[in-house]
Amino acid sequence: MSYKNILEEIEDNILTITVNRPKKLNALNRETIQELHNAFKEARSNDEVKVVILTGSGEKAFVAGADISEFADFSPKEGKRLAADGQEKLFSYVANFPKPVIAAVNGFALGGGLELAMAAHFRIASDNAKMGLPEVSLGVIPGYGGTQRLPQLVGKGRAMEMIMTAGMIDANQALQYNLVNHVVEPDELLEFAESIANKIMKNSMVAIGAAIRAINANYEAGVNGFETEIQEFGRSFGTEDFKEGTSAFLNKRKADFPGK
Ligand code: COA
Repeated sequence: MSYKNILEEIEDNILTITVNRPKKLNALNRETIQELHNAFKEARSNDEVKVVILTGSGEKAFVAGADISEFADFSPKEGKRLAADGQEKLFSYVANFPKPVIAAVNGFALGGGLELAMAAHFRIASDNAKMGLPEVSLGVIPGYGGTQRLPQLVGKGRAMEMIMTAGMIDANQALQYNLVNHVVEPDELLEFAESIANKIMKNSMVAIGAAIRAINANYEAGVNGFETEIQEFGRSFGTEDFKEGTSAFLNKRKADFPGK
């Protein structure tokens, strides 16, 4: 499928999705959110796709936020719908995506941009990246999961400070805060993300999907993550990947997972 605001490339089972509105610093307008949803939905059922890398086009920005020009005149009701729709279509969709999603943060990740990076399963940043949730400087609060995911990643006090000051942190501070897992040179960012994707793909993608569900269960209100883990652990024993993984180990050979 071809899109107006995003680019897609599949190579060696890695789908790279690039938000492509560089003149607007890749700001997320409604159309882009819909296109990202469609791309993820398609990737979900495409067996060729095993890992997704999400990045922004140009050297300046990952995503500089939700497109402010689209919501400047919204009513409270419209604002509420904007957040609910965005969370359902994109941010929760990415967070609960059954295949690994890595954000390669290549510049500004602000507001909805940082929220998108935080919805991904983990983040790698280029050393010129800048991250923040500046919404209160516009008179709103983060609405795409930022008030929930930032404290989960950096701790409550740091999240409070970042959100209250509307300030930006650089890549090294983001590393220190556990907001990103690695910081690399800008021209090595995608290659580095791909090298991690390749390490992931040596393992059972079925088991990885189960691990994503179990890890995410810890962050769902009213769900007992330990119980989810027990269920997912038990289910693993019924998969062909489990039979292959254990028999390969016992026969001292490399596993070739069927992905079932
Ligand atoms: N929504 C809509 N347009 C945006 C945008 C956003 N979140 N972020 C950047 N843009 C647009 C700018 O309006 C500008 O468009 P124009 O050339 O048509 O005027 C273009 O992208 C380039 O941005 P500019 O501000 O000129 O770049 P800069 O290098 O001077 O500043 C930023 C970069 C990221 C500091 C600045 O663009 C910014 O503060 N953006 C908004 C960040 C934000 O508050 N995000 C949270 C939204 S909830």
